Amino acid sequence: MLAQLDQIEQKALDELGTATSEEALQQWKVSHLGRNSPLMRAFDGLGGLPKEERPQIGRRANEVKRLLETSLEERSQALRRSAVLQSLSAERLDVTLPGRPVAHGRLHPTTLTMRQIISVFAEMGFQVYRSREVELDEFNFQLLNFPPHHPAREMQDSFYVDTQSERGDNPVLLRTHTSPGQIRAMRAIAAMYPGDPPPVRLVLPGMSFRYEQVTSRSEIQFNQIEGLAVGKRITMGDLKGTLSDFARRFFGQNVRSRFRASHFPFTEPSAEMDIECFVCQGAGCPVCKRTGWLEILGCGMVHPTVLANGGYDPQTYTGFAFGMGPERIAMLRHRIDDIRYFYANDLRFLEQF
Ligand code: DAH
Repeated sequence: MLAQLDQIEQKALDELGTATSEEALQQWKVSHLGRNSPLMRAFDGLGGLPKEERPQIGRRANEVKRLLETSLEERSQALRRSAVLQSLSAERLDVTLPGRPVAHGRLHPTTLTMRQIISVFAEMGFQVYRSREVELDEFNFQLLNFPPHHPAREMQDSFYVDTQSERGDNPVLLRTHTSPGQIRAMRAIAAMYPGDPPPVRLVLPGMSFRYEQVTSRSEIQFNQIEGLAVGKRITMGDLKGTLSDFARRFFGQNVRSRFRASHFPFTEPSAEMDIECFVCQGAGCPVCKRTGWLEILGCGMVHPTVLANGGYDPQTYTGFAFGMGPERIAMLRHRIDDIRYFYANDLRFLEQF
């Protein structure tokens, strides 16, 4: 009987060594530890043995059973370990491969240009004032001294909003320029200091809208940066000095600029500023249309009526104002020949900045 148990043990261990899968182990367990296995039948036969043999045989049978159970557990663990090692060695990681590029967001070319313009004026002591995009005719035109039948007020130029205002002659519209912010800013400051308002030095950036034919040179929406300086002894010399200095700081220390007489209802006198063409250095080229100069902004001394409408007494205060188009300036700088690129959301364009 003991020899039989030795055989059972030997056979089971031999077969276990050849089992290489989870299913084979299950099979093995049924054959060698299951209800009908030779080992279990040996247990069943214990009762028919002579009394004095029973303890020894029983002990041996139990020993075989424990050995088979622990061997099964070890074999099963070894199989799992080698499966992990196999799949690890099958996965190849080439650490010398270049990484996948991470897509970065970036600022819009107009945003970049506006930030640069604003930071030049910030260095000169100008603060940023944000005014509303939805305006009243009163602020967009009337308080800025536009005569009642000025062509800029025509339906063709403005986007009107259905909302009614309190006054019949005062429709709601999308601002056609940032200049109404001049009145809003002056009034806000004057209201805080009745009688003797402090000087003003502001830039007012933001979107403007015009109901126009979209072409390579004009969009229905675009940004402007308005400037406003009001104080007790501000002259045309301050205007010229500030804006020429801006041109040098923004376009380069050697850039020349010039002022041409112009007309705006809200300034008197009014001018336009040109800078020397940075493509041809003034010699004449297609970018400057052979003139050697590039127009970059409109400006002038704030009209006394506009100062008064803002709550600043024109007997005591004077001021200058200017307005420029950052998209136009970005176009000149980067030689972009079509303004429609700015709002077409074409990544091939945007990713260049
Ligand atoms: N608002 C003018 C426009 O949209 C630009 C402008 C010109 C603004 C002269 C000013 C200025 O403040 O003084 O064309």
